[in-house]
Parts: sequence; C-alpha cells; structure tokens
Amino acid sequence: MCGIVGYTGQRQAAPILLDGLSKLEYRGYDSAGLAVRNRDGEIEIVKAKGRLAVLSEKTDGGRTLQGCCGIGHTRWATHGEPSENNAHPHCSDDGNVVGVHNGIIENYQELREKLQRNGYRFYSGTDTEVAVKLIDYYYKKYLGTPVDAINHAMVRIRGSYALAIMFKEYPGEVFAARKESPMILGVADGECYLASDVPAILKYTRNVYYIGNMEIGRLKDGKVTFYNLDGDEIEKELVEILWDAEAAEKAGYEHFMMKEIHEQPRAITDTLNSVLQDGALNLDGVGLTDEELKDISHICIVACGSAYHVGAVAQYVIEDLAKLPVRVELASEFRYRSLLLDPKELVVIISQSGETADSLAALREAKKRGASTLAVVNVVGSSIAREADHVFYTMAGPEIAVATTKAYSAQLIAVYCLAAQLGKVRGTITEEYYQELVREMTLLPEKVNKVLEEKGRLQWFAAKQANAKDVFFIGRGVDYAVSLEGSLKLKEISYIHSEAYAAGELKHGTISLIEDGTLVISVVTQSALFEKIVSNMVECKSRGAQLFGLTSYGNYSIEDTADFVTYVPKTDEHFAASLAVVPLQLLAYYVSLARGLDVDKPRNLAKSVTVE
Ligand code: F6R
Repeated sequence: MCGIVGYTGQRQAAPILLDGLSKLEYRGYDSAGLAVRNRDGEIEIVKAKGRLAVLSEKTDGGRTLQGCCGIGHTRWATHGEPSENNAHPHCSDDGNVVGVHNGIIENYQELREKLQRNGYRFYSGTDTEVAVKLIDYYYKKYLGTPVDAINHAMVRIRGSYALAIMFKEYPGEVFAARKESPMILGVADGECYLASDVPAILKYTRNVYYIGNMEIGRLKDGKVTFYNLDGDEIEKELVEILWDAEAAEKAGYEHFMMKEIHEQPRAITDTLNSVLQDGALNLDGVGLTDEELKDISHICIVACGSAYHVGAVAQYVIEDLAKLPVRVELASEFRYRSLLLDPKELVVIISQSGETADSLAALREAKKRGASTLAVVNVVGSSIAREADHVFYTMAGPEIAVATTKAYSAQLIAVYCLAAQLGKVRGTITEEYYQELVREMTLLPEKVNKVLEEKGRLQWFAAKQANAKDVFFIGRGVDYAVSLEGSLKLKEISYIHSEAYAAGELKHGTISLIEDGTLVISVVTQSALFEKIVSNMVECKSRGAQLFGLTSYGNYSIEDTADFVTYVPKTDEHFAASLAVVPLQLLAYYVSLARGLDVDKPRNLAKSVTVE
C-alpha cells in the first residue's frame, strides 16, 4: 500500500525517484508525486492523479525538476479519494517540512484537531498531511533538530508509517522514520537511497540497512545515521542484497505476471533445494529440528488471500501425511478471535511480502499467547520474517505483478516439505514413501514446464470467455483448495465475478445460479474423488453449464462430460495443486488480456496490504 522513495547525492534526483517509483507501482497506482529541492534551496512539489506515467509526462521524465535531493510517492488511497490534492508529497503551510508516507495514522482526526487549534489549516483529506504538520509543529515548538521533531511526532502518532521527510533548513538531507510499514535505506559512493522495497534501488546499490520499528534515519553525504526514540545514535548492520537486478525486470515478457508464471519451475527448485541435503529434507536451517517437529500437537496456519489458499492445500496434505490436526485461519479473523491454542501448537504464518498487516498482527497475537511460530515468507528481512521464531524462506525472488503466481508455488513446495518431514519424523509415512515424495517434489519443476507448453490452447479458450458474467470453480479435497486460488486469480485481474465451491456444496444453494452457458471449471486430480466430482459436473451440465475439466493425463473419460479439457502431468496427488494451478493462472491472464485490462496492476488493489 503506497510506495515511497528518497534520494540524496550528486545526481539529479527526479529521474532516480521516478525510476524507483516505477518498481514500486505495484504497491499503489492511483496517484503519484515528487518533491525535489532545487539549487536555490526551494522544495518544488509536482503531483499527478493516475498512473506514474502521468507524473513522468508532467515532469518530462523528471527533467523539469532540478536538484539532487528529493522524495517520491506512489499512492493507494486510504484516507481521502485518489486526487492530485490528496497525492503525496504533503507539506507544512510555510513549506518548512515536506513528507511522503506509507501506512495509516489511526488518530489522525484527534491530531488534526489539535493542529487546527494551533493555527494549522488543511488542504487535503489525508492522514499524511497531519503527520507532516505535526512534525512541523514540534520542530517549531521545541526549536530543536529534525530528529527531535520527528521523535516527538512518533510518540504522538498511533498507527503505522514509513515516512520520508525533508526540512527546508537542512538541504541535502532526507530523514526517515518507521513503525510497522516496510522501508529500507541504501548507500553507495556518496549517495543515499530510501525505498519501501528492494527492487526500487537494486539498480543503484546492493548495500542496505533495515530500519527498525520506532527508529529514525538521517541520510546525508552518502551516510545514514540512525537514532532511537530518545534521539541517541544507534548502530545498524549493512546488509548485502543478493538478488539479481534482472529479477525485477520484465525480461522480454509483455507482463510481469507472465514472466513470473514462467519463473515457477525455478522458484520451486530453489525453494526445495534450500532444504534438500543428500536426497533428504533438512529443516534445521529453518530452525525446526526433527525433535521439535515430533513434539508438535496441532498446526494452525494463518494467512491472507492466496497465501491463505496455500494454507487450504497444506491442511489436506499435512493432515494426510502427518496425521496432525491442522486448521487454516484468515489472519484478519484470527487476530480478533479468542482462538484456543494448544501449548504445543505450531502457528504457521504464510506471506509473500512478510508485511501484510493482518498476518503480522496475527503472528504477534500467536506469540503473545505463547505459541511457537513459523513464518513461510518470501521477502528477506521483512517484519514477519524478523519476528517469527522460525523462518522458511521461499526462494521466489522479487514478485512484481499484483496477482501472485510464483510466490504461491514456492509457498506450496515449502508446505509440502513441512508435511513430508512431519510425516517422516512422526512415523506416519514409511521411509520408502518419504523418498518417493521427495523425488516427486524434485520432478515438479519439469512438470510445470510441461503444463506451460499448453498455453496456446488456454489462450484460445480464454479469448472465448472474455464476456463471461459469472464463473464457478469446483473441486474436492486439494482440488477444492486449488479452485479457491483459480477463482481469485480470475476475478482479481479480469473483473469477472467468480466463486469457488467444494463441489459437494453446490447443490446446497449455489446451483440456482447456473444458467445456460455459465462456465463451470472443475478441477479433478484426486482419483479417489473422481467419480464424485464427475457427478457434480453432470448436475451442472444438466442445468446448462459449459464445463471446463482440468485433470491429470490418463483421466480421459472426463471428455465424455466436459466441453473443454486440459490435462496436467501425473504426480503424487498430494502435490497436484502445484500443477493444476498453472492452467488456472494462464486462463486468468489470457482472459484479462482479452478484455484489454492491465494484467499487472488490477484496479483497487496493491501488492502488499500493509493496512488493516
Ligand atoms: C492475490 C494476492 C493476495 C495476497 C495476499 C497476501 O493474487 O497476491 O491475495 O496473497 O494479499 O499477501 P502476502 O502473501 O504478501 O501476505
């Protein structure tokens, strides 16, 4: 939700800021803005409603803004509708303080009233303007330094923020403050950078600092100085980012989503290899020894969106392989529920970004209640990764498209590893079957590649669905779990209404929505449930549905029922979601393309949901 950048050095700031924002546009894209300090010390602000391209055009690629120190923002509106007026940066009435913000200031109404009583006027509906003016207020009240002013404001503000601030009286300096919202600070040869996420600065530096909660950073002369809430200087470790800069580029694909769909075999291989040693899994690096795994009594998986759908797959797989009770909870519900946790329960938080507000809050809640926690996270150094007791990093690399694909696949392989290892140490599967499961996992990347070869047929089918009104996905067991993900992919990027149902549930109400020509997509990879789901397909067909069957090679009898069939290679059926999801991702992609939509940046969404 919102992306922020900052730069101070010897080069022109605006083109660097725009370039950085282009890598963060996935975080929000309803308006954008820049503030650059020009040679006369004046801070010039330019904002535009709409995509970053509008701002870029308005500033001629940043060339109309001269100056070597600046901040920028791309917005996903929370307080105040998307408009030029509400776009960041925001500034104090006299231009003394200028700032950009990612997060939510919960007590902004109360602070606004306090500032109004002290003579401040407000021109926008944003909480950010309140934060900027509060810093200005303390700066003037205590005749102090920027660090003092920011510290005072941080104590008063409730909520979350990553703030980048410039002060008129401190040329060539950018100040940063953080609570909950993500932010990294980078340094390179006399230059300093600041961004919400690594891809924004990867082109310029690999040396970054992770700023902690309630800490302040001062960027000046190629050096970052950190302060705590008392204003005392604190030391931070410089970390080298190992990601390949190319990973954050489209590499010839029309969209990041298609590139990322094709990166799934690599994401699966890299994630699996991170815990594979001499043909066996070893979760010691994750911090979970076999003894600890043996001791677990229950598992509670907590996540949002697609990551929650990974949890839904994991529930079937872990219960079956490890004979452990598993429940899956939406993070936004878990955090406010007095769920009873067993003292030996492992709470698993799944998150690509590692910054999703509800998942982070759920993690903290679980820790507060004494549970042991494991994070399955993609972004290294993210809040969830830092706060969980154990971390299983998925190796998907930077994921830019808003709709997740490769991170979902990497999360799946991570939970399969957990399931197989639990099964082995708990003695609920034989050593031979364990070996077979590990071997099957190593074959998944090749099989995903095979599914990708079918994309031409899916594009043809998708083009015919561009005007669909409603689509239903049905499945049983793991196929139901993957249907949830297929449905989300389709609706979020094509804006076609779709729903996923456990196939047996359809006739308890939803079947009344099936009309002549309604598309029903049936996922059928679980042999024990094959006949059951075919009966459900027939029920839909006899009410006029058009049937798309997604099954494994060999299940050719499905052609007697379905109107269109796609096959995926056979694998151990516990892992079928890894293959079945790929045609569903491709279908969503091609339907969105056929409807002429922005595949990578669907409306109203943002990649990481750092607000509640
Ligand atoms: C959908 C999608 C979202 C995320 C959800 C959780 O394509 O990407 O549903 O899965 O917002 O995000 P993370 O995994 O970053 O916690």
